[in-house]
Amino acid sequence: MVQTFPTMRLRRLRRSQVMRDLLAENTVTLNDLIYPIFVEEDLDDFAPVDSMPGVFRIPERKLDVAIKEIAAAGIKAVMTFGVSHNKDDTGSDAWNRDGLLARMIKRAKDAAPELMLISDTCFCEYTTHGHCGVIHDGDVHNDHTIENLGRQAVVAAEAGADMIAPSSMMDGQVHAIRSALDSHGLGAVPIMAYSSKFASAFYGPFRDAAGCELKGDRKAYQMNPMNGREALRESGADEAEGADMLMVKPAMPYLDVLTQIRQRSLLPLAAYQVSGEYAMIKFAAAAGAIDEARVMRESLGAIKRAGADLILTYFAMDIARDGF
Ligand code: PBG
Repeated sequence: MVQTFPTMRLRRLRRSQVMRDLLAENTVTLNDLIYPIFVEEDLDDFAPVDSMPGVFRIPERKLDVAIKEIAAAGIKAVMTFGVSHNKDDTGSDAWNRDGLLARMIKRAKDAAPELMLISDTCFCEYTTHGHCGVIHDGDVHNDHTIENLGRQAVVAAEAGADMIAPSSMMDGQVHAIRSALDSHGLGAVPIMAYSSKFASAFYGPFRDAAGCELKGDRKAYQMNPMNGREALRESGADEAEGADMLMVKPAMPYLDVLTQIRQRSLLPLAAYQVSGEYAMIKFAAAAGAIDEARVMRESLGAIKRAGADLILTYFAMDIARDGF
């Protein structure tokens, strides 16, 4: 039987805060959040990222202090990005055992072993041209790049990374990384695949934060923002290749994609609230146009409601400090 007005009065269940809290279908806790951090070598002091108010590049030499503070705040997991001063055309510093990527992982894990460390696995922060892999004939070479991703993943896992998160959008990257890890006795290290990553203008502020040198764009490997079905093929491929978790990125402009993947896959699903999403909220709030705390919570809640189990967000420290 379907209720109708006047028997049905939906407002009855909205009358008090207690009632609203009891009936909330979703909530956000620190168990749902991953905090992305930027670590720069040869830097003395924390450096504010102008396009992301509240975000700082962490000096490698002060990483242990910063990591202890993050862990003490109650954050459960971080995603690491290196800001490299040793770039070359292949991004080889990312698989150098004494390079920034390996050093920052070791240092962070030594400072707070219980803090889960997820290593963003890509090359754009380590290449002089800023692309996510090796360039051949003016294009990123897929199969050479995935071989290098395998190398990087092994170095990251051996340095102590708890999870590998390939973000370069090469075909076969999950398979290549899984094989490389397995053949080095690292079969227990899971892969969180950036499976539906769009060629998005919302990454703008990140390039500033990560010191990325890209001229041009990533349309030849990241997905066209106009496409939804293709995102299902991408996530299906990553699942078949052995991904342990899937991801949609950016988050809020792609909630439809998140929901569709949630309905089709049983894998845990993450969403990345990216730099531009963060910056829009910060700058609109600074201009007095919106209430930052409320919009932040609404945006994270919406991402959960759409189907995300986990959210990567630069707001994680705000939630740790003030609660949801
Ligand atoms: C690296 C990478 C990017 C982001 C995460 N990993 C940049 C890009 O693909 O251009 C963006 C994150 C953000 O904007 O917050 N491939």
